[in-house]
Amino acid sequence: MSTEAHAVAHDAATTVPADMSWDGSRQRLERAKRVTPGGVHTNIRLYEQPFPLFIDRGEGSRLWDVDGNQYIDYVLANGPMLLGHSPRPVVEAVKAQLDRGLLYAAQTDLEIEAAERIVEILPCAENVRFNMTGTEAVQAALRIARAATGRQKVLIFQGHYDGWADSVLWNVGTPSTARPDGSIEPVPESQGIELAVGRDLIVTQWNDPDLVESVLAAHRDEIAAVIMEPIMGNSGVIPPRPGYLQAVRDLCTRFGVVLIFDEIITGFRVGQGGAQGRLGVTPDLCVFGKAVASGMPVAGVAGRADLFAEIGTGKVMHAGTFNSYPPGMAACVATLRILTDPAWDVYGTMERVGTRLRDGLAEAARMSGLDVLVQGLPMVFNTSFTSLTEIVDHRGAIQSDVPALRRFIPHLLRRGVRIAGRGNWMLSAAHTIDDADRTIEAFAGALEAFREAEGKRA
Ligand SMILES: Cc1ncc(COP(=O)(O)O)c(C=O)c1O
Repeated sequence: MSTEAHAVAHDAATTVPADMSWDGSRQRLERAKRVTPGGVHTNIRLYEQPFPLFIDRGEGSRLWDVDGNQYIDYVLANGPMLLGHSPRPVVEAVKAQLDRGLLYAAQTDLEIEAAERIVEILPCAENVRFNMTGTEAVQAALRIARAATGRQKVLIFQGHYDGWADSVLWNVGTPSTARPDGSIEPVPESQGIELAVGRDLIVTQWNDPDLVESVLAAHRDEIAAVIMEPIMGNSGVIPPRPGYLQAVRDLCTRFGVVLIFDEIITGFRVGQGGAQGRLGVTPDLCVFGKAVASGMPVAGVAGRADLFAEIGTGKVMHAGTFNSYPPGMAACVATLRILTDPAWDVYGTMERVGTRLRDGLAEAARMSGLDVLVQGLPMVFNTSFTSLTEIVDHRGAIQSDVPALRRFIPHLLRRGVRIAGRGNWMLSAAHTIDDADRTIEAFAGALEAFREAEGKRA
C-alpha cells in the first residue's frame, strides 16, 4: 500500500481565479496586530507572502484558509508534516492518549518505544533525550559536548540556522569579514543577543574542508563542538560537496572535537536515517525534531552513549517540564511506526513524486527563460531567482534576488500552490503525482504572470 493511496481525494481543481479573496485573513491579521507584534507568534511568519494567512484546516497535501481557498501545501509547517496534514494513525494515537492523561512527570511505555525506535533508525544514536523544540535540543547537544571535552568554543557556519537561542543565532544571514585563521567575524542576528556569547563562537563558511582544518588547527584544544546542518536548509537547500562531511568527520576525530549534525530539517525527511543515513557519515551527536512527531512538538538529542553518561549521573543538567509528554510521544511512536513500515513506502513515494515535481519545475523554469534555479533533494528543495547554475554556500545564496521571489510567490498562491517565503519546498508522503503535475502547471503559469507583471513594473 503506497502512501499515495492514503492521500485525500480532491475534487475541486486547484487552479483558483486570479481575483481570489484573502479578505478574511487580512481582517484577522489586522485584529491580531493589535495584541501581537506583527500579528504572528514567530518572526519566520512575518515574511510569508503576500502576508501571513490564517488557516482553517489541513488534510493530506492540502490546506484551506479562512477564506475557503485551497492550496497544495509545500510549507508543511516548515517540515513537520512529513506524512501530510492530519495523518489519521497519528491523530488517532494522540486522541487515545489524551483520554489517558496529558502529563504525569513520570515515565511511560511510549517514551521507551520512541527512544528505542530512534536508536534503531539513526546511525549515531545509542542514547536519546527528548525535548520540545529544536532550539532546546541544540542547547542540550552543546552542553553535552562542552562537558565531555572540557572546552568552551563552538564552531558554527555562515548561513546555518540552529535555532533562536543567543548561543547560536549568529551569522545566519548577514555577510561578514574574513579573518586570517580561516574564520569570519561573528555577527549577532538580532538586537538583544547576549554579546558575550560571541567570545566562544568561531564562524566559518560551509562546504570547504580546508577552512575547517585551518580553524580547528588555529584553535587546537579550545573547540568543544562543530555544529552544522549536514544539508543546508535555511539558506536555500545546499547539499554538501562530495567528501565534505567525511572530511569534517575525520578532522573532528583528529582534533578531539564533538561533531553535531543539526538534523532538525533533514532528520526523518531525507531518508529514514536522516542525512547521516543518506550520506553515510555518522556524527557523534545529532539533534532532531520537526518530522519525528508529525506536528506535535517533540525534539531531541541523540548520539554516543559515552557522551550521555554524565547526564545519567546528574552532573550534566538536562531538563524540561514537558519533556517526553505523553501525547507527543504517542505521535512520535505512531509516526516512527509508519516511517519504518514498508507497506507505507514513505521514502519511495517522496523520492518518486518529489523527483517528478523538482525536475518538472526546473524544466518549467528553463522554458520560461527567467533566471530561476531549482536546487535540492526531491523531499526538500528551493527555488530562487539567480543567474547561478549551482549554489554551494551562503555566499552564493545571498546573490539571489529575494525581492523578486517575494513578488513571485503571490502568483503561485493565486494558482493554489503554497511555498515558504524563502523559496523552500517540502514534500510529504501524501503528495501525489497528480499534485506534482498540477503544481508544475501552476508554476509555469505563475512564471508567465510574474514576467508580465515585472514588464509592467519596468
Ligand atoms: C536546522 C534547524 N535547526 C534548529 C531549528 C530550531 O527548531 P525549533 O524551531 O523547533 O526550535 C530549526 C527550525 O527551523 C532548524 O531549521
